[in-house]
Amino acid sequence: MEKFVVNGGKPLFGEVNISGAKNAAVAIIPAVILCDEPCQIENIPNISDVSLISRILQQLGANVRRINKSSLYIDPTHIQTCNATTELVRGMRASYYLLGALLGKYGNAKVALPGGCNFGVRPIDQHLKGFEALGAETRLIDGAIIDAKCDNKLIGTHIYLDVVSVGATMNIMLAACKAEGQTVIENAAKEPHIVDLANFLNSMGADIRGAGTDVIKVRGVGYLHGVTYSVIPDQIEAGTYMCAAAATRGCITVNNITPKHLESISIKLREMGVKITEYDESIKVDATVKPLKRCNIKTMPHPGFPTDCQPQFVALLMGVPGTSIVNESVWDNRYQYISQFINMGAQISVEGRLAIIEGGAPLTAAPVKATDLRAGAAMIIAALQINGTTEISNIQFIERGYENVIEKFKALGADIKKVYFTGDNDAELRA
Ligand code: EPZ
Repeated sequence: MEKFVVNGGKPLFGEVNISGAKNAAVAIIPAVILCDEPCQIENIPNISDVSLISRILQQLGANVRRINKSSLYIDPTHIQTCNATTELVRGMRASYYLLGALLGKYGNAKVALPGGCNFGVRPIDQHLKGFEALGAETRLIDGAIIDAKCDNKLIGTHIYLDVVSVGATMNIMLAACKAEGQTVIENAAKEPHIVDLANFLNSMGADIRGAGTDVIKVRGVGYLHGVTYSVIPDQIEAGTYMCAAAATRGCITVNNITPKHLESISIKLREMGVKITEYDESIKVDATVKPLKRCNIKTMPHPGFPTDCQPQFVALLMGVPGTSIVNESVWDNRYQYISQFINMGAQISVEGRLAIIEGGAPLTAAPVKATDLRAGAAMIIAALQINGTTEISNIQFIERGYENVIEKFKALGADIKKVYFTGDNDAELRA
């Protein structure tokens, strides 16, 4: 068993380089299935979710090779099957993009229901509604596998999403890329990774307009050619380090980012008294200037405050005196991690979608569990604030989405290491 061990209580200083965006990469990699030639994808984060989706493509018959630490060569021209029903597929959320990509390219797809972080019910009805509007038939086999197919070609149409969904927007874009005629997606999500996926598809010859607004128009094309494409920087990884700097009252520069993607996070940190200075591709976060103030947050689809930074902000706010209220409006149940913070002495109560944080209560080191990816990152932020040694278990969740997390925090002066424990007596074997 592996754990992170954090000796906290020290402010973070220095610079951190942000990797490519996980949620863009895990869509762009399966999107290569639509291409009629090989592609090279750069600025890919070296994380376990990327390894997983790459292995799934290999199982389908694609040739996927890592050219270097951050670039993948993907040749989809030898894909032999549209059945993606293995255990690997169940192991991640983004495997649902195989539905749109396989359906768009081959007219049929059998894909196991996706796994991923547990935030309560995670329906994909809007994805299926989109595929059906394009002319596909969908059915659930044995409650575990989605079968989507069309007899002839998918035909472009108007699709109104009943909820703003990142996954449904991207999946319908994928399916519509080679459909006959024009597809209009209304009430589309506007996250930076949606624009990135559209830019990638357009660079191959697709015809997608309006990505980044709530109406996306996709005109189907016949052939997509191979390209070299670089994934955007990870907005949420950047937000996580920004939060950690504020929580430890440090001062760091976050490099390789797009400041515009971080606006909702920067605005909240500024409201709390953190000095934020934006440069072309970096941002300086200085929490040494004045005492921090409490603030309220409501998560919303982009350009609102991202739900994927909600746990990290709760970790920050529990160390700031005063009452802060967080309203999680995207997911039904994204507070499962809060019991871990309560074990550390935090005073937080949850009422439905609200978390009420009485910040400034003394925090003490306690063994905690990463309950999901972002909650795991929040555990690190909590531990960095506490004088004492915190052990974080279930770190496989964190490694799904954060490249070199230990090295990056260490370079900022954090005392953090990964240790391997035996199952029997929890004795430390090696650091
Ligand atoms: C993506 O999940 C991200 N995952 C999530 O990030 C992120 O939290 C989420 O978008 C919101 O920003 C990936 O990109 C792989 P949604 P997704 O469809 O696409 C409801 C992380 O930490 N809904 O935008 O699955 C749904 O229940 C992960 O990196 C339907 O009702 O999210 C939710 O309340 C965790 N029907 C809301 O919409 C549907 O068909 C938003 O979900 C689809 C969604």
